[in-house]
Amino acid sequence: MAEQITREDALTREGYRHACHIMLYGDSSAKLFGKIPIKHIVLMQMRFDGLLGFPGGLVNPSKETLEAGLSRELHEEVGVAVPVGVDNHVSSCLSPSSPRLSTHFYIKKMTESELKEIERAAVAAATDHGLEVLGMIRVPLYFLKNGGGLPYFLSHSFISNSRAQLLSALQHCRLLSQGELEKAVRQAEQMRC
Ligand code: GTP
Ligand code: MN
Ligand code: MN
Ligand code: MN
Ligand code: MN
Ligand code: MN
Repeated sequence: MAEQITREDALTREGYRHACHIMLYGDSSAKLFGKIPIKHIVLMQMRFDGLLGFPGGLVNPSKETLEAGLSRELHEEVGVAVPVGVDNHVSSCLSPSSPRLSTHFYIKKMTESELKEIERAAVAAATDHGLEVLGMIRVPLYFLKNGGGLPYFLSHSFISNSRAQLLSALQHCRLLSQGELEKAVRQAEQMRC
């Protein structure tokens, strides 16, 4: 478990770098195969290194606020400078994978049409498309037979603690029940062999 600290505390740490990432999500009435409700759209990305993560990146707090820096990174990575405020911040922690890196996590709810516009812009307008970002992806939140859906998704490899950020955000926003989250984690665990 990564060490949690407050946003303010993180900013007072000498010699620390800061990275801000965000979960953009929203409701959807679309149905997979015409029958399985997808319920929510949750965006992540396939990174250049082959790992899954959230859009966002390194921010320099001496030149920009954390939130303005995150908005700049979103412009680079998804082609839209999505406005982000302090009210979108949910947690900060000392990175478990990189020394002297503090990671800040944000969540923003958007409409289905705004999310679809971001998916289009991520290909058509984002300067990082095909380079630092190989593509935006949606997180499957449903359960199919034999682990299909969220359990298989969770069995992939994730950057830093972004997998834990995803699970806590799904809980925080009540996109899945506690029981469903535990089931997904348990089934994903059984796939790692
Ligand atoms: P450059 O433009 O190449 O500097 O990349 P970037 O600014 O987009 O940075 P990146 O998104 O790679 O994030 C910087 C660091 O934050 C990474 O090296 C990881 O250690 C960490 N990181 C990346 N994505 C995530 C994420 O989704 N969650 C968390 N917690 N950490 C992440
Ligand atoms: Mn088909
Ligand atoms: Mn970036
Ligand atoms: Mn990035
Ligand atoms: Mn960057
Ligand atoms: Mn870059």
